[in-house]
Amino acid sequence: MPLIDRHGRVATDLRVSLTDRCNLRCTYCMPPEGLDWLPTDDQLTDDEVVRLITVATQRLGVREVRFTGGEPLVRRGLVDIVRRVRAVDAEVEMSITTNALGLARTAAALAAAGLDRVNVSLDSVRRETFHEITRRDRLDDVIEGLAASEEAGLGPVKVNAVLLRGVNDDQAPELLQWCLDRGYQLRFIEQMPLDAQHGWSRDGMITADEIFVSLASTFTLTPAEEPRGSAPAELFLVDGGPATVGVIASVTRPFCGDCDRVRLTADGQVRNCLFARQESDLRLAMRAGASDDDIVERWRTAMWGKAPGHGIDDPSFLQPDRPMSAIGG
Ligand code: GTP
Ligand code: 5AD
Ligand code: SF4
Repeated sequence: MPLIDRHGRVATDLRVSLTDRCNLRCTYCMPPEGLDWLPTDDQLTDDEVVRLITVATQRLGVREVRFTGGEPLVRRGLVDIVRRVRAVDAEVEMSITTNALGLARTAAALAAAGLDRVNVSLDSVRRETFHEITRRDRLDDVIEGLAASEEAGLGPVKVNAVLLRGVNDDQAPELLQWCLDRGYQLRFIEQMPLDAQHGWSRDGMITADEIFVSLASTFTLTPAEEPRGSAPAELFLVDGGPATVGVIASVTRPFCGDCDRVRLTADGQVRNCLFARQESDLRLAMRAGASDDDIVERWRTAMWGKAPGHGIDDPSFLQPDRPMSAIGG
C-alpha cells in the first residue's frame, strides 16, 4: 500500500537527512557559530536508518531515496548505508544533495556502493563571493568534487543555486555559462522561509521572474517540452537546447499539488512536508520495540495528514521550528 494523503497525493520520494551538521555556514542557512546540533544519542544509527528505508522501499512504495543533511558527506556511515540500501533494493533510485566538500575523495566509493546521482549546491563560481556566502574559502574543493562525481558516473550532475540580493544576484548568467561549459544542469532556487535566523523576507527573496530577466540579458530561454511531473524544477531550453536550465520557484509558483515527497529527519521524525508543523517519532517507536507493521502504520498515518500546500502566502503562516539544515534540503 502506497503512502497517500487525504488530498490524493502519493509519496514515492523519500528524503533522508543523515545529519544536521554541516561544514559550511551559508549566511542564508545558519549563523557563523553553527546551531545546537542533535545529540549523538538522538541521531538514528546506521542500522535504524537502513531499517526505516527498507520499510519505505519494501512496504510503502518509495522508489527514490535522496540523502540530505545538513551535509550528508559528514555522516561517517554514508557509503555503508548506500551499500546496504542497494543490497535490499536493486531498483530504487538513490542520490545525494551535497555541498561537495570531500566528494572528490568519496565519489568513486559512493558510486561503487550503488549511488546513482548527485546534486551539488553552488551559489557562485567567484572565489570571493563563494567565501562571502558560505563563510569558508572552499570553492576549489567543490569544483574538484563536481569533476570527481562526473568521472565516477554519478551524473547527470545537477547544480543548485540560491541567489541573494546584492550578493550574487548579478552572477546568474556567469554561473549558467560555467555549468553549460561543463555539462552540469543548473537550477536556480527561490529562497524559502526556512533559515535558522528567521531572517527571510518576501522582498529579500530573488523571484523566478527576476531570474528570467537576469538570464535573458545573455541567453534565450524557451520552456522545455518534457512533462514536469512532480519535479520541483521547471526546465527551459538554453538558446534552443539541448542544454537546459531549471528554476525551482517554490514560493511564487508552488508545486505542492503534485508533491510526491516525504521526509525523515536525522533524529528519526517523519515530516510529511518541509513546512509540516507536526512530526511523527519513528525513533522513539523503534527504540520502544515497534515492529515493521507498527512502523508502516505510523508512517501511513503521518502521511495522511499532509497539508495541501506550504501556505507561505497565508497571513497565518508560521515558519517551522526546525530550519532547513535540520529537515533536509
Ligand atoms: P532531482 O530528482 O535531481 O530533480 O532532485 P530535487 O531537485 O528534487 O532535489 P534537490 O535536493 O536537488 O532539491 C533542490 C531544491 O528544491 C532544494 O534545495 C529545495 O530548495 C527545493 N526542494 C526540494 N524538495 C522540496 C520540497 O519538497 N518542497 C519545496 N517547496 N521545495 C523543495
Ligand atoms: N530556501 C531554498 N533553498 C535552500 N537551501 C538552503 N536553504 C534554503 C532555503 N531557505 C538549499 C541549498 C542547497 C539545498 C540543500 O537547499 O542552497 O542547494
Ligand atoms: Fe511538498 Fe511541502 Fe514542498 Fe509543497 S512545501 S512541495 S507540499 S514538501
